[in-house]
Amino acid sequence: MSRALKLALFGDPVEHSRSPEIHRRFGEQTGVELEYTTIRCSSPEFGPRFAAFIVAGGSGANLTLPLKQAGLAVCQQVDPDARAARAVNTLVKRADGWHGYNTDGPGLLLDLQGLGIPVTDQRILVIGAGGATAGILAPLLAQSPRLLAILNRTGARAEALAEKHAHRGHVIGGGFEHSEALKDFDLLIQAGSSGHHGILPPLQRRWLKPGAQAYDLNYGPAHRAFADWCREHKLPCHDGLGMLVGQAALAFEIWTGQLPDTAPVVQALRAF
Ligand SMILES: NC(=O)c1ccc[n+]([C@@H]2O[C@H](COP(=O)([O-])OP(=O)(O)OC[C@H]3O[C@@H](n4cnc5c(N)ncnc54)[C@H](OP(=O)(O)O)[C@@H]3O)[C@@H](O)[C@H]2O)c1
Repeated sequence: MSRALKLALFGDPVEHSRSPEIHRRFGEQTGVELEYTTIRCSSPEFGPRFAAFIVAGGSGANLTLPLKQAGLAVCQQVDPDARAARAVNTLVKRADGWHGYNTDGPGLLLDLQGLGIPVTDQRILVIGAGGATAGILAPLLAQSPRLLAILNRTGARAEALAEKHAHRGHVIGGGFEHSEALKDFDLLIQAGSSGHHGILPPLQRRWLKPGAQAYDLNYGPAHRAFADWCREHKLPCHDGLGMLVGQAALAFEIWTGQLPDTAPVVQALRAF
């Protein structure tokens, strides 16, 4: 029988995911033998497909849309970041059952740190109030930014997230119609998904300080419209490929105890 770690990414779609390649590179880098496959499945299919994966010897998994919430139901233990986000992106089998984590926020912090972008004491503006924002809020607020504002097309979702996290720091949320008073932000984080359709929410350069920076959770074609806007407004901008590799590196550490070096993997992914 193969001694390789049996891992899988569950979600839909998963066909074009870069995770198999990222984990193959981490395995090569660390000498860990692993099999990382993709399993396309919907929320109702997840329970039985995950049970079959366990029977086949599965010992760790990643979850992507639309399964991050469904992942909570298969965990015996859920770590605080995943509990705060109500979403699990990494599962690991331990002696006392399955443990669930959310490495998206810590993956973002790892990338910001590598890029030299500070969070502590900064004024941060997050665009979007979906699952990704829910995942990054608690880890960002744990770094004590001066203010974290969330703007979203559906203002009520941003307000609800801000309310839920109010005990973690100074966080406010609302719709673009309430953005008149916003100013002096150091960091703009684009965490919305409209870039997949080549469109942008109504962003304003005047919300940001002259020396501000921007970070887009999106990468590849979904990053283009935001990158163009940043270029037009002379705003230094980074895409989310580093976060993708960062969250994967932290999942790999959960499965194997080894934190791989993300830089060469980001570089390799950019080359293709
Ligand atoms: N780099 C990484 O590792 C990483 C990790 C996670 C996610 N992501 C990316 O982050 C993005 C957000 O993911 P998610 O899980 O939060 O998605 P989601 O839960 O579907 O939320 C989508 C968000 O985008 C907003 N939005 C969608 N279409 C819009 C439009 N036409 N105009 C304005 N706002 C619009 C939504 O606003 P409403 O609430 O008004 O619908 C919502 O806030 C995705 O593109 C995903 O690929 C990257």
